[in-house]
Amino acid sequence: MSHLVEQQQSGEKITLSYLQAAKEQGRKLVMLTAYDYPTARLADEAGVDMILVGDSLANTALGYENTLRVTLDEMLVAARAVRRGVRRALVVADLPFGTFQAGNDEAMRAALRFVKEAEAEAVKLEGGRQRLSLVRQMVENGIPVMGHVGLTPQSVLQMGGFRLQGKTLASARRIVDDALALEAAGAFALVLEVIPSRLTRIITEKIRIPTIGIGAGPDANGQVLVINDLLGLNFQRTAKFVRKYADLRSTMEDAIGRFITDVREGVYPSTEETYSVPSEVAEQLEQLGGGDDPGYVIFSE
Ligand code: KIV
Repeated sequence: MSHLVEQQQSGEKITLSYLQAAKEQGRKLVMLTAYDYPTARLADEAGVDMILVGDSLANTALGYENTLRVTLDEMLVAARAVRRGVRRALVVADLPFGTFQAGNDEAMRAALRFVKEAEAEAVKLEGGRQRLSLVRQMVENGIPVMGHVGLTPQSVLQMGGFRLQGKTLASARRIVDDALALEAAGAFALVLEVIPSRLTRIITEKIRIPTIGIGAGPDANGQVLVINDLLGLNFQRTAKFVRKYADLRSTMEDAIGRFITDVREGVYPSTEETYSVPSEVAEQLEQLGGGDDPGYVIFSE
C-alpha cells in the first residue's frame, strides 16, 4: 500500500502531493463546496478530499442572483467557518469577482487574507491566459492556486448566460491552451466547468496536474458539485449535470410546516419538552399568582 493511500485511510491531512499522486495512481478525487461550519464538518468527516469555499456562496446562501456581487469580506466569513469544521480535506477559497480583475497587487492581498485570516490552503481563480502572471506570482509567493476554465460564471455578463463552452474547434483549442498555460504557470489543479466530455478527456491526458470536472463528463480526475445542488436545497433551476442525492428543500419545508402546526395547535411543547420545579417551589410560585405582582418578587431570596 502506498504511503499516500495509507495517509488517506488514516485520516491524515490532504496535501498537494496527495492530490498529484491520486491522479498518477488513477484514484478519483472528490471536491464539494461548503459555506458554513456544519456542512464543512460533515463533508470532511464523510471523507471528501477538497472543500471549496466557492463564490457560489452568493447564489446558494446569500440570495444574490449570480456570483458577481459577493464580497471578499462575505467570502472570508464563510471561509473561516468552513476552516473551523475541517481537519483532513484541503480547503480551497474562491477569489470573488473584483478581487483579481483590478491588478495583481490587489489579488495578492485578497489571497493573503484568505490564507492568514481563514487558514485557506489554496485559492481558486477563474480564467485562462489573462491570469498567468497572477498565478505565477501567487505560486512564487507560496500560495497554491487552482485554475478554473470552461464555463466561468464570473464572466456571465460577457457570456450572456451560462452555456456549454468549447463547442467549436476554435473555442475548444482556446480552453486546451489555457489549461496548458495554467499548468505551466504553476497551478496545482484545474476545474473544468461545463465543457464536452471529449474535451475533458483530452485536457486530462495532456496536463500532468489533476482536473476536477463539473458538468464536464466522467473523464476528469475528480468531480465537484455545489453542495446545495447535491442536497436539493436550492431555488434556482439546476443544470442537467447535477445529480440530486437528497431533497433537503422538501425535508425542511415539511419540518418547518409541522412546527408551525404544532405551535398553533398547542401540541408543542409537550410536558416532556418542558422544565419543571420541585413541587414545594411550584406551590410557592402559585401563591405569588399573576395579578399585579411585580416580576422581581419571583427572583427575591
Ligand atoms: O463557486 C463554485 O461553487 C465553483 C464550483 C462550481 C467549481 O466555482
